[in-house]
Amino acid sequence: MKGKLLSIAVLFFVGMTGASAQNVHHFKTNSSLVKKIPSLFEASGEQYKFLSKNLGQNKFPKTYYARTLKWDNSNSDWWCSGFYPGTLLYIYEQTKDQETYNEAVRIMKPLAKEQFNKTTHDLGFMMYCSFGNAYRMDPKPEYKEIMINSAKSLASRFVPSVGCIRSWESRKPNEECLVIIDNMMNLELLFWASKVTGDRSYYDIAVTHANTTMKNHFRPDYSSFHLVNYNPSTGGINLKKTVQGFRDTSAWARGQAWGLYGYTVTYRETKDKKYLEQAEHIADYILNHPNLPKDKIPYWDFNAPDIPNALRDASAGAVMASALLELCNYTNAEKGKVYFKAAETMIKSLSSPAYFAKPKANGGYLLEHSVGNLAGNGEVDVPLTYADYYYVEALKRYKEMSEVNK
Ligand code: GLY
Repeated sequence: MKGKLLSIAVLFFVGMTGASAQNVHHFKTNSSLVKKIPSLFEASGEQYKFLSKNLGQNKFPKTYYARTLKWDNSNSDWWCSGFYPGTLLYIYEQTKDQETYNEAVRIMKPLAKEQFNKTTHDLGFMMYCSFGNAYRMDPKPEYKEIMINSAKSLASRFVPSVGCIRSWESRKPNEECLVIIDNMMNLELLFWASKVTGDRSYYDIAVTHANTTMKNHFRPDYSSFHLVNYNPSTGGINLKKTVQGFRDTSAWARGQAWGLYGYTVTYRETKDKKYLEQAEHIADYILNHPNLPKDKIPYWDFNAPDIPNALRDASAGAVMASALLELCNYTNAEKGKVYFKAAETMIKSLSSPAYFAKPKANGGYLLEHSVGNLAGNGEVDVPLTYADYYYVEALKRYKEMSEVNK
């Protein structure tokens, strides 16, 4: 019977991620946390109704400043525009609240035009987190078309001489091709497009980008730089930087989280062990770091100068939790258990009053205490849409893994 239940749990997991999971182990979920999950989703649904009331016409939530009681919202071309509909869809999937679903559908209308945006690499975040979830739940042909067009736009930014998708725009595009570790998160859209269209070029671009990034972004200890600036004429490297971190040689927490999630997905989609090993190395770097706090929500930078008084970044913790819940299924049982337990601690921490906002507090966002860009003095100790998105994704993953315990 256990074997049968295990298979059911594996199917849940595979259905969720599009993954063909390997080495799926049985990790014992914490029953009091599992019991709490439905009420966390209910509370999230109510919070997001409050958040939605404070959006302007065709605006997308970005953050909220508690000190000035001000919401900061964006247009659809901001890199975070897909997280709001994505979070609503994850909440709806659990609560079945029609108003939540309708709000997701409403906001995806002004988002759809971004499928043709060739000036950003963030189309994976913007279109896969939104339309990808919508399509998974309701496979409408128009969602599929929007995502294929988005993949085409993203692929148009591939620079063959470098072997990477161009991330940020540069004023000197012939001299600089700027690639950030965050870009690993946009590959999932290309893997998806390759499968649905049968066009191998999307897959090849994703794999080439992952290989180049693995070679040049990482240090010997498997921490990563934020930015590698390439010379598109030669494919050589101009310089390496950590723009949003404490200093160039530091480990900016969210950058480590993007790398962990990105290589986990790349392994899922390719089954090439070198990506699994890369994801494990990143996970081990994070989890063995002496500056990772007890509640496992990282400081905004692992090398922040004012640790232990440095600010935490809940968004990095949420991305790490979700990634570890996938990675623990691919790796060996011993490592898997370590990853699973770490993710569990992260979810418990984020679900506690230390991070999870009280009703109608925090501008209607779910999680407090994220850091967007401290180095640029922007979005410091605030809520962020991507913290919420990866938090509810992690909750969903944890809940689905608990089915095996029933
Ligand atoms: N550039 C995306 C981030 O701040 O993580």
